[in-house]
Amino acid sequence: MPDIVRIAPSVLSADLGRLAEQLDQLERGGADWIHVDVMDGRFVPNLTFGALLIGALRRMTDLPLDVHLMVVEPERYIEPFLEAGASVFTFHPEATVHVQRHLAAVREVGMRAGLALNPGTPLAAAEEVVDDLDLLLIMSVNPGYGGQSYLPSATAKIQRARAMLDRHESGALLEVDGGVSPDTIAAARSAGADTFVAGSAIFSAPDPAARIGELRDRCKAGVSV
Ligand code: DX5
Ligand code: ZN
Repeated sequence: MPDIVRIAPSVLSADLGRLAEQLDQLERGGADWIHVDVMDGRFVPNLTFGALLIGALRRMTDLPLDVHLMVVEPERYIEPFLEAGASVFTFHPEATVHVQRHLAAVREVGMRAGLALNPGTPLAAAEEVVDDLDLLLIMSVNPGYGGQSYLPSATAKIQRARAMLDRHESGALLEVDGGVSPDTIAAARSAGADTFVAGSAIFSAPDPAARIGELRDRCKAGVSV
């Protein structure tokens, strides 16, 4: 399991009216990536951001932008999001037909290619394209909203994902998204995740910068799973 832990605060839970100030706090707290949740009101009920916000974030921070597309036909956004400044482009296999082709296209233009699996989606969907992955995202909630509770079944799925990636000698990062908090992060880390998205746990904290450090510390503590 990779030693490096990445914390990726999700701007879905940020106060957009104070975005520049909140980004400063995240940078001060040692955030590694900024997670951007793109929702289209079709793949998930909620409607959020697009290339305009990605571009605005790109001008406000040098941190990599970890863009998570919860949209149908994500391939339509490869070029616009690249131009806006996305670093990681992660989409759902449930949302498109030609998953392998689109992963290859994302890499081809120079972004990291990620695949995100809903709680009900088998790991096999990722194993079929493992050589095309720079990142595998295990959803620990059903996507669509921030502030949901971590599904306990995610921990065993992360363990299986870790074993699958290791079996294929894949260098893909293993990310977890949904309900990640000081109470749940150690289980996900012990199961083999290395990259952690957190929205409400960071932005609802009295000191978001300190909360990032706390999440990182809880990873070191670990738990047996
Ligand atoms: C959920 C999104 C998440 C969300 C996580 O559909 O993909 O990235 O921002 O929020 P929390 O950490 O509050 O569960
Ligand atoms: Zn997300």
